[in-house]
Amino acid sequence: MLAVHDKRIADSISRLGAENAFQVLARAKEIEATGRRVVHMEIGEPDFDTPEHIKKAAIESLMGHDTHYTPSAGIMELRETVADYATRFRKMPEPYTAANVTVAPGAKPIIWNILSAILNPGDDFIYFDPAYPAYGSASTYLQANVIRIPLREKLNWRMDLDELASRVSSKTKAIVINSPHNPTGGVLLRSDLERIAELAQKHDFLVIADEIYSRNFYLDTEFVSIASLPGMKERTIIVDGFSKAYAMTGWRLGYAIMPEELCKVVTLFNNNTFSCVTSFVQKAGIAALTGPDAPVVEMNEMFRKRRDKIVSGLNAIPGLSCTTPEGAFYAFPNVQQYTHDDKALANFLLEQAGVACGGGSSFGPAGAGYLRFSYAASLDDIDYALAQIREMLPKFKA
Ligand SMILES: Cc1ncc(COP(=O)(O)O)c(C=O)c1O
Repeated sequence: MLAVHDKRIADSISRLGAENAFQVLARAKEIEATGRRVVHMEIGEPDFDTPEHIKKAAIESLMGHDTHYTPSAGIMELRETVADYATRFRKMPEPYTAANVTVAPGAKPIIWNILSAILNPGDDFIYFDPAYPAYGSASTYLQANVIRIPLREKLNWRMDLDELASRVSSKTKAIVINSPHNPTGGVLLRSDLERIAELAQKHDFLVIADEIYSRNFYLDTEFVSIASLPGMKERTIIVDGFSKAYAMTGWRLGYAIMPEELCKVVTLFNNNTFSCVTSFVQKAGIAALTGPDAPVVEMNEMFRKRRDKIVSGLNAIPGLSCTTPEGAFYAFPNVQQYTHDDKALANFLLEQAGVACGGGSSFGPAGAGYLRFSYAASLDDIDYALAQIREMLPKFKA
């Protein structure tokens, strides 16, 4: 949070958070510019190129003069495609339609617009700690009563459901679940989702299901969306996008799926903020969802190999321990035998070892004493990073 003492700037700015990964990225680039090798494991973006058929669709659309404003909810063809895809992929008992879908320049701005659409000051709003920083930043800015429930390393980063049950009430407006999870790679089991669904129906709250990593999934079982459980379609807001599954972070394209009345309000926020998403990028989104799926599967296979390498490598370093991520592309090792000041350790590794990663506490207090490595780096880079960490860690002074 910024402490701002400049009368030109609004007081509310002191309630805004930030995504630390972008700050680490900026410093890592400065170091690289001096000619030193840096392995980039700080930011959550696949290092692969966007598949060819998606790029081609955008180029054709651009050359075909798709260069104007579009509706604030997105073009009808993309909304219909998203609704079809979501119905199939999530095995929805009742289909989604375009009226349930609103499109944004990334999942991040849609999270802001969803929270703006549903939260009154003082509303109880629950999310799990550690977490992707956008939930905390937007809800604090909106003056909700933010309740953070710690995730448990010993449960492979799932939540203690009895603890959740003890914290929800008729005052709970919404909770965010994020499975697979950033920053831990944890995945909620069907039984977890069933219990959350039961609580949501009992206490009448909304579930925001951030499923942006639903295609980055390594378990043998299938991905389960809480929206597909009985009684949940009408109280779930799915957040998803193209950044992670299709290596499209720079394109800025995401969406949310929710009951029609809510969708209209979130779209009103789209109208007031970004107006609409780049027209030819929306055409690329259609190509991503309707084109060959093989590139997504191949990228995921590579992520799985990298996961196995980094997790076994980290566990082989004395004093470190790392759970096995079941989804997303982050390893979240426990470094508490060295320090609880994870940000100082992350900074040391960047400056002294050329390994850029994130301090766990930048994802919330429960992340203190952990580091986040995004394994969107080549196997060679991961080997180099592990060797550097092993050599430099003993030199770190807490
Ligand atoms: C959990 C989660 N949700 C949403 C996003 C936002 O993704 P984008 O805005 O690139 O679609 C991210 C990005 O890191 C994320 O980790």
